[in-house]
Amino acid sequence: MSDKLILFPETARIERGHLSIGGRDAAELCREFGTPLYVFDEAMLRTQCRGFIGEFRQRYPDTRVVYACKAFINRALAALLAGEGLGFDVVSGGELSIVLAAGAAPERIYFHGNNKSREELAAALGRGVGRIVADNFHELALLEELAAGRRQKVLLRLTPGIDPHTHKFTTTGIVDSKFGFSLVDGQAEEAVKLAGRSRAVELVGLHFHLGSPIFEMEPYEKAIPVVLDFAAAMKERHGLALQELSIGGGFAVSYVLDRPAPPIAAYAEAIATAVREACRQRRLAGPALVIEPGRSIVGRAGVALYSVGAVKRIPGVRTYVSVDGGMADNIRPALYGAKYEVLVANRAGEEGGEVVSIAGKFCESGDILVQDVRLPALRAGDILALPAAGAYCLSMASNYNSSLKPPVVLVKDGQARLIRRRESYDDLMRCDEV
Ligand SMILES: Cc1ncc(COP(=O)(O)O)c(C=O)c1O
Repeated sequence: MSDKLILFPETARIERGHLSIGGRDAAELCREFGTPLYVFDEAMLRTQCRGFIGEFRQRYPDTRVVYACKAFINRALAALLAGEGLGFDVVSGGELSIVLAAGAAPERIYFHGNNKSREELAAALGRGVGRIVADNFHELALLEELAAGRRQKVLLRLTPGIDPHTHKFTTTGIVDSKFGFSLVDGQAEEAVKLAGRSRAVELVGLHFHLGSPIFEMEPYEKAIPVVLDFAAAMKERHGLALQELSIGGGFAVSYVLDRPAPPIAAYAEAIATAVREACRQRRLAGPALVIEPGRSIVGRAGVALYSVGAVKRIPGVRTYVSVDGGMADNIRPALYGAKYEVLVANRAGEEGGEVVSIAGKFCESGDILVQDVRLPALRAGDILALPAAGAYCLSMASNYNSSLKPPVVLVKDGQARLIRRRESYDDLMRCDEV
């Protein structure tokens, strides 16, 4: 049973049959804050930030680590990550507002997105964001209109045509993608030419993001030379001076025991080597390297806690164990078949039991959090812990069935700090006009 602990934050322990995180008993946290509850382990968050900065800079000193807020963001988290020296990748006016409210330095913000609105771009320019990662010609034209005498540092997002071998919903760097300028049809070169002529845009680099999660090094190793070939050709034909190369995010997290994520050092080694080698072969000066981890910063730090309610046994067919959350707080299993392990947080030492499916409480038959998992016989009131729930759960949460989005607590050294309260019924009606 305790082998599952490796999927939980590094401070997770099993003591007297109870799961604890950051020195706090998970079942006690549930009594104090209610369920569903998301718990983030501060030590684990800091370990990941330091891991990315340390492993990459050791191999490629000029590396900038930019956190992809889409994985999960709020003000407390943004302040913590900024304190660890991370910049921010934002994809909306909302994410931009949150990180700025948390005190993030504007010049360390990268603004992404395949359809940034005029208002969002104006806000980004007005607040002095460090980089805009331009995705298409429409956006370049908008920048021209909005610049008002300023020159904005810009990266161009490219689609290098490399398959990262992940779910098609989270594959972004192939030719058939809504994101970025394609390398195969001359669009990317056209964008370099346009940017070169522009008075509003200062083209400082190139960006790509292949998809997520990527468990292999090969997609990065293939994409980097492709993009640096393009950079070398653009230097030759249009005088492009590549100051920055962003290779995006996508670093994997271990969700289940039989698919462990590679260590950060493996990504750092492969990517740093590929960039250095490709630059050397093409006689390019080594650009600053930008990486954009999202999932891998917050994924393992977060644990979702649910209470068991109804247990439905269909003899010879299946046993459904229903919990008080589900697809409204974690849509990943329903959206792309994501897999999770489960631990019974209040009976963590118990072995054996029966094979059950963990069902959410929302009105969709597809709202199954975990299919076919062997757990000790469950009763109403048991607490189930889903590890690796820190990324793309809360950030994709909805109010489906007019449910309340869960609270978030940050645990450290036996202390729990509420960093987001549970929504209330009043919150659900706050935007209504009657
Ligand atoms: C441009 C870009 N950068 C970074 C990320 C973060 O990916 P991950 O959370 O897998 O690290 C994404 C995810 O969609 C992305 O689109």
